Amino acid sequence: MFIFVLLFGGVALWQAGTVIYHLWFSSLAKIPGSKLAASTLLYEFYYEVICSGKYTRQIERMHEKYGPIVRISPYEVHIKDADFCVEAFSSVKKLDKYGWWYRVFGGPGATVSTEHHDVHKSRRATFKNFLSPVVVRDFVPTIVEKVKQAGLIMSHHAHMGKPLCMSNLYRCIAADTVSAYALPASLNMLDSDDLGEEFQSGLRLFFEAATTMRFLGFLQPLMMMMPDLIFKRLLTGPARSLIKLIRTIQKPADIEKSRPCLLDRIKTNNYRENGDFRERLLQEAEQFIVAGTETTGYALSVTTFYILQNADIQKMLRQELIDAEISLNDDIDIISLQNLSYLSAVITEGLRFAHGVGSRLPRVNKSSDVQYHQWRIPAGVPISMTSRLHHEDPQLFPEPLTFRPDRWLQPDSKRLRKYLSPFGLGSRICPGMHLAFYEIYIAIAYIFTHFDVDNNGTTKDDLISAHDLGAPFPKRDSKGLQVTLQLR
Ligand code: HEM
Repeated sequence: MFIFVLLFGGVALWQAGTVIYHLWFSSLAKIPGSKLAASTLLYEFYYEVICSGKYTRQIERMHEKYGPIVRISPYEVHIKDADFCVEAFSSVKKLDKYGWWYRVFGGPGATVSTEHHDVHKSRRATFKNFLSPVVVRDFVPTIVEKVKQAGLIMSHHAHMGKPLCMSNLYRCIAADTVSAYALPASLNMLDSDDLGEEFQSGLRLFFEAATTMRFLGFLQPLMMMMPDLIFKRLLTGPARSLIKLIRTIQKPADIEKSRPCLLDRIKTNNYRENGDFRERLLQEAEQFIVAGTETTGYALSVTTFYILQNADIQKMLRQELIDAEISLNDDIDIISLQNLSYLSAVITEGLRFAHGVGSRLPRVNKSSDVQYHQWRIPAGVPISMTSRLHHEDPQLFPEPLTFRPDRWLQPDSKRLRKYLSPFGLGSRICPGMHLAFYEIYIAIAYIFTHFDVDNNGTTKDDLISAHDLGAPFPKRDSKGLQVTLQLR
């Protein structure tokens, strides 16, 4: 009994000491913010894990109360000042990622979760050119093929008079495209009976588990130790086929046989690290599928939803597409499509609403202190920003919650672009953005040229992010974007 009292007392004393240190002696003690958030990680844990991805909204409320700089945890500072963030995140040459935040995404071998700037630079160099606009352009016929396959599914639903979940369809286009580009073969989710419904719940589970494991790090190795038999039973069908597909890259002979893909590129590059290179390839592969599926699918769903909300926008978009007479076949002229001004404005506004990642993006400047007005943030302290808070700032985007493509067609709209960061900023900016853009342009152009689309009772709540778990997720019982269709 005495031993327990001693143990308990010791832990309580240690905790109290830590709180006192964080509140009064830490180098961040003078940064404004909630004392509770500054004293313990349990505050963030409550919003992120118990409430499932609600900390972004809470951070927004903290900014409303305390101003543009807030301490959001004992260790981290968040800034809501678009001019400062764009400058600080883009121009500082050597920023690290915050290891604690990113360790749960993709594993230590994946570029996205690589903490140190120099290691990241070498890893990213291995595939950088393969994702350039010019190289990705050669892949456009495959994107057209995927979109046309989705078009057949839409025609079938139109013919049967059945509603269709466009959120699922878009996610399938995105998953099939990115897997065809990155892996030896496509996931072919457009062929699945449930249009990737199961894959989507698996993905959501992945993001929820990742958020929990960020705080309860000991769960990660426990999961790795789980016997294969149990692990396989827990996996959904599509997750199993993804793993099977990725495993093919573990056999060099298969790679030789398959067509060149992004992973192939990483494999044949001169840059090599110590350690298990195959394991790293596996983690890179998972990263591409996860990073390229939910983001692109969500941006397409959100853009389509807002087009359907406004008959004038739909009419102007369709008229521009008809007038342009651009072939939407293999011989598509993607540059001309991207030059259509109204289509581009609609897509840009869609990306402003979709936000990209949803949660904050923390960075660490290890080499120098950061000065923000009267506050000095010591070198090594993670500083984060959230694109969504800029995208919804009425000072930058008047009537931020109104879908207004015309804001991108004004003489001063170039100035606005600076504040739009759905693909992130600086050296960690999304390398898949050109692939994503081609998918979005082709899918929106194809669908609004060939179909009359009606929103089948979908509300904003079915789509807008209620849980920011790395990727944005709507409320749990959302049915996604449901539409009815007619062939034109
Ligand atoms: C509309 C679609 C997309 C959006 C909004 C988006 C957004 C983002 C954002 C915001 C980041 C930065 C994350 C951070 O700083 O932590 C990122 C990184 C990344 N994205 Fe995307 N993404 C999209 C599509 C894609 C696609 C199609 C691919 C695959 C080809 C992809 C692959 C990646 C990778 C590998 C990273 C990590 C880059 C690095 O750390 O150097 N993304 N993405």
